[in-house]
Amino acid sequence: MTEQNQRAYNFNAGPSALPLEVLQVAQKELVDFKQSGMSVMELSHRSATYEEVHNEAIARLRKLFNIPENYEVLFVQGGASQQFATIPMNFLEDGKKAAYVMTGSWSEKALKEAKLFGHAYETNSTKADKYNHIPTISDLNWDENDEYIHITSNNTIYGTQWKEFPNTNDVPLIADMSSDIMSKPIDIEKFGMIYAGAQKNLGPSGVTLVIIRKDLVEKAKANIPTIFQYRTHADNNSLYNTPPTFGIYMLGEVLKWIESQGGLKEVAKKNEEKAKLIYDAIDESNGFYSGHAKTDSRSLMNITFNLQTPELEKQFLQEAKEAGFVGLNGHRSIGGCRASAYNAVPYEACKALRDFMIEFQAKHK
Ligand SMILES: Cc1ncc(COP(=O)(O)O)c(C=O)c1O
Repeated sequence: MTEQNQRAYNFNAGPSALPLEVLQVAQKELVDFKQSGMSVMELSHRSATYEEVHNEAIARLRKLFNIPENYEVLFVQGGASQQFATIPMNFLEDGKKAAYVMTGSWSEKALKEAKLFGHAYETNSTKADKYNHIPTISDLNWDENDEYIHITSNNTIYGTQWKEFPNTNDVPLIADMSSDIMSKPIDIEKFGMIYAGAQKNLGPSGVTLVIIRKDLVEKAKANIPTIFQYRTHADNNSLYNTPPTFGIYMLGEVLKWIESQGGLKEVAKKNEEKAKLIYDAIDESNGFYSGHAKTDSRSLMNITFNLQTPELEKQFLQEAKEAGFVGLNGHRSIGGCRASAYNAVPYEACKALRDFMIEFQAKHK
C-alpha cells in the first residue's frame, strides 16, 4: 500500500493495475459523462456521444502505435482465448496449414484450437527447457505455403518475451500480444495480425484488440458465422453488435495516459527501468533468488523467479502479502513467484518490491 493514496502495490498478471489518473477520470465522469446526464455505460452505442469515444480510441491507437492505413483496428469480445479459435476459423480448413511457435502455455492453447480447423503444427518448441527462452530468430522453421505463423510475443506465465520479430515475408505473422501490447514501439508492418485482451496494458477485461492487415480481412473465409468473421467487424467499424462500450472508453483513457507519459518510447524506457530494479535484486542475490527465464529472453512485463526451497518461497509470499504486495504468486500451473510490471505499475511499486526482496534476503539467508 502506498501511504499517499491507499493504492496497493499491485503486481497482478491480469486483470492488473490501471493508471490511477485514468481511474480518477472515470470516477469523475461516471454519473454524468460530458453532460449527457448518464454514464458511458448507459449511452446508446449508436449515439453520437458514444461514437466519438469509440472513434477517438481507434484514432489514438493508430497514432500512438503507428498503425498504417492498410490495417484495420477492431474491438471484439471473447478475450484472446476466443481469438485462438477465431484465427484458424477464418484462415484454416482441410488442406491448409499454419505454424505455431511453442513458447508457453498460451501458445499451446492457441495451437489446440487451430488443430480443429486445419493442419496446425508446432515448431521451435522450448518446452523441454521449461519454456525458459525464446527461440533464436534465425532458427525459426515454417513453410512458405503456410497460411500464417503464430507467435506469443510475451509469455505471461513463464516470463519470457520476444526481443525482435522475424521477417516472415509472404507468410503473415500473427502475434498474441496480450501481455506486452503497447509496452514499447514495434514495427506493425512485420505482422499480418496482432491481437490482445485489454486487461493487462490497455484497460479492463472485456475488450479484445485486433489489428489486422486489410488483405487478410478480405481473404478470410466467408462460410463461418457472421460474428466470427473479421470482415463483419471491419465493415461495421466494430459496431456490428453492441461493443463493450465502457471498456472501450477506459481503453481510450489509458491511451490518453500513455500520451501524457510521452508516448510508447518513454513508456518502454520506464518499463526497462522498472524491470531492471527487480532483475538486479535477483542477479545480485548470490542465488538466493533465481530467475526462471534465460537472461536474453527475460520479459519486462512478467518477472518470474524462485527461492531455494518451497518453504522459503511460501514464507516470501506470505511476508510480501503482509507488507502490502499483491499478486506475487506464480501462475497456478508452475508455482514460484511472478511480479507483473505492466505499463501502469508505478516505478515506486517496483522499487518497494526490490527493497522488500533485499530485506527478506538479509533476514532469511
Ligand atoms: C499471452 C496470453 N494470451 C492469452 C491469454 C488469455 O486471454 P483471455 O483471458 O483474454 O482470453 C492470456 C491471459 O493471461 C495471456 O497472457
